[in-house]
Amino acid sequence: MDIVDRILISEDEIQKRVRELAEEISKDYAGKEVLLLCILKGGLMFLADLAKHITVPVTMDFIGISSYGNATTSSGVVRIVKDLEDSIEGKHVLIVEDIIDSGLTLSYLINSLSIRNPASIKICTLLDKQVNREVDITVDYVGFTVPNEFLVGYGLDFQEYYRNIPYIFILNPKYYTD
Ligand code: PRP
Repeated sequence: MDIVDRILISEDEIQKRVRELAEEISKDYAGKEVLLLCILKGGLMFLADLAKHITVPVTMDFIGISSYGNATTSSGVVRIVKDLEDSIEGKHVLIVEDIIDSGLTLSYLINSLSIRNPASIKICTLLDKQVNREVDITVDYVGFTVPNEFLVGYGLDFQEYYRNIPYIFILNPKYYTD
């Protein structure tokens, strides 16, 4: 595909790392149940694959958030466009994200989830663009630390497309201008 500058993480690499993370999570939550909380839309592919390999009892819920900032820069002020279906009170919540960039979205989200009295909140992200972090947040599980490139695929979109591509690629720069 012309849209691909180069493949950063292959399908095999993703699947291998997802299994490792699921194993780690299963050990850490042994004897407990975990509520996987998917941040739409990017976290969808990751959650689906991760959940298949977790061996403790799993429930799932989904939250949709929309940033008030412009399309390329996160403002950190987010609006909940689709709220959770069930209460998280007393539950062990594991937030599942595709990518953490500035960290502002998660920082805001954790604050608003904390007041709902969960037993615990942890974060699992497939990709960590650590170099762009603006706020200090504790990330419990990281798939890959990635460079500051425009990444697409496996949940990450370019103009809402390509979320279904099973690998992660760097977007050909000719498709964007900033
Ligand atoms: C992405 C990603 C995180 C957020 C990270 O979502 O899934 O939620 O940006 O950025 P931050 O750490 O700088 O706050 P996006 O707004 O692109 O929505 P999407 O998942 O629906 O594509």
